[in-house]
Amino acid sequence: MASSAMGKRLEGKTIVITGASSGIGRSTAAEFARTSPNNLRLILTARRIDTLKQIAADITKEVGDGVKVLPFQLDVSKPEEVSSFVEKLPEEWRDIDILVNNAGLVKGVARAPDIAAEDINVQFATNVTGLINMTQAVLPIFKSRDEGGKGDIINIGSIAGREPYAGGSIYCATKAAVRSFTDALRKELIATRIRVIEIDPGQVETEFSVVRFYGDRSKADAVYAGCEPLTPDDIAEIIVFAAGRRENVVIADTLVFPSHQAAAGVMHRKV
Ligand SMILES: NC(=O)c1ccc[n+]([C@@H]2O[C@H](COP(=O)([O-])OP(=O)(O)OC[C@H]3O[C@@H](n4cnc5c(N)ncnc54)[C@H](OP(=O)(O)O)[C@@H]3O)[C@@H](O)[C@H]2O)c1
Repeated sequence: MASSAMGKRLEGKTIVITGASSGIGRSTAAEFARTSPNNLRLILTARRIDTLKQIAADITKEVGDGVKVLPFQLDVSKPEEVSSFVEKLPEEWRDIDILVNNAGLVKGVARAPDIAAEDINVQFATNVTGLINMTQAVLPIFKSRDEGGKGDIINIGSIAGREPYAGGSIYCATKAAVRSFTDALRKELIATRIRVIEIDPGQVETEFSVVRFYGDRSKADAVYAGCEPLTPDDIAEIIVFAAGRRENVVIADTLVFPSHQAAAGVMHRKV
């Protein structure tokens, strides 16, 4: 199959995606496979292993076996699972080049002092500690390479990390933490070839709002009423574009809105 310049640059890479069972992560897996179908290894991680197996089969069906796909069950909120992740990979899958830290969630719209402890903990354990632990698990592989190290860390933040809103205090705080960690990491790795990239979506229609409203689909649908949100493919294309730049190009920071959105709370809705 023919490849674009971007496809060629990605050839031979091993890519880990967290939260690959749904939404942006799932689309990112498919987009990497389509962009570089000749020689790629995709490690798809999430808690729902059966869904990951189905996605792996769908990718193989679509692009053929130039793309090898490894579904791997991993709960990023469990530090012991993250710390043993790399050693549990089969040998030929350990030479990771790109880590997409995408797993994340929002729970509820409660305001202090009524926010459930469980919701606070799961958001921080997944969005913040999970992302940091994944980064720490994979960075030694990057740092062992020439020129101080090579590899890409792509963190999925959010407009919520830049502009906190009422009813989202915990989620916004987790995404602000992602932003601080990412910016500090880029500075810490300045003497290397390791690229630290953050992509901050605005409104994207995925399972995100269904998770926020504890499975209540009608409440989730109301979030998008009168709007045309981004699709997960829109963000996946930007993730793959960032990873597919020439080695010396770092798309450090990207904020992406659908055209009706101008800030976390500024939406134009058709009535
Ligand atoms: N949708 C939006 O409007 C929006 C906007 C800005 C940023 N984001 C960010 O984009 C990222 C992806 O979200 P999405 O919109 O694609 O939502 P989604 O469709 O709900 O997907 C979230 C993914 O994260 C995984 N996940 C959740 N908890 C996990 C855990 N403990 N360990 C491993 N994987 C876990 C889920 O898989 P399992 O349930 O199988 O584990 C799922 O694959 C998140 O970081 C989110 O904060 C979304």
